Amino acid sequence: MRIGIVGTGIVGRTLGTRLAKLGHDVRMGSRTTGGEKARTWVKQTGGKSSEGTLADATAHAEIVFNCTPGNVSIEALSAAGAKNLEGKTLIDVSNPIDFSKGMPPTLSVCNTDSLGEQIQRAFPTAHVVKSLNTVTAAVMADPSIIPGVHDMFVSGNDAKAKGQVVDLLKTGFGWKEVIDLGDITAARAQEMLLPLWLRLYTKFQTPNVNVHVAR
Ligand SMILES: NC(=O)c1ccc[n+]([C@@H]2O[C@H](COP(=O)([O-])OP(=O)(O)OC[C@H]3O[C@@H](n4cnc5c(N)ncnc54)[C@H](OP(=O)(O)O)[C@@H]3O)[C@@H](O)[C@H]2O)c1
Repeated sequence: MRIGIVGTGIVGRTLGTRLAKLGHDVRMGSRTTGGEKARTWVKQTGGKSSEGTLADATAHAEIVFNCTPGNVSIEALSAAGAKNLEGKTLIDVSNPIDFSKGMPPTLSVCNTDSLGEQIQRAFPTAHVVKSLNTVTAAVMADPSIIPGVHDMFVSGNDAKAKGQVVDLLKTGFGWKEVIDLGDITAARAQEMLLPLWLRLYTKFQTPNVNVHVAR
């Protein structure tokens, strides 16, 4: 598949590397074409991927990953071009984390709305699927880093897009337990897991932590 990654941070590069290894045609988009992070990443994938502007990445793609900080995701995706997202699956891994009041961070949106919903409203013709935001970057792409059974969540309004993401998570990244929480309003619950994740990270002094829903 042709996959576009919006954002050159640790999440974008980790997912991009894994997707390129799986044989997908991955293009990473940045505000600065030819920037060091994106160029180094292309080299690390053995030149099998490419980099460009935010719009280059989304125009190229059948599936797009939003890997930008939550407070600028809508701005970044707007720069990537609403037209380039039309009818496409947009996997939103971002979190609405607000560090402005110090540590621990708070959520800039919660309870009655979510970043996933805000992105879906801003890009109504895209098929937003919220997922992967509840684990650290390395675990997103390789859940076997954490031993035992642990879960990934998905939510979104479009059943076909969600199915595509579940397939990628399971057959591509190796997730064994993927729980479909329903429509995009479930992104509230996925994003509100962040305070728990941050506590677990502090308690166990490792980012390699996740939850499993016993039932
Ligand atoms: N880090 C994790 O392990 C983790 C885990 C779960 C979820 N998340 C979420 O995943 C998202 C990405 O995380 P990250 O740690 O990779 O983020 P990051 O390093 O803070 O930022 C990712 C990239 O976003 C781009 N960016 C920054 N400001 C922008 C703007 N105003 N407009 C357009 N692009 C902008 C930058 O790329 P350019 O400078 O190249 O444009 C930057 O490299 C965040 O929402 C985070 O909360 C992260």
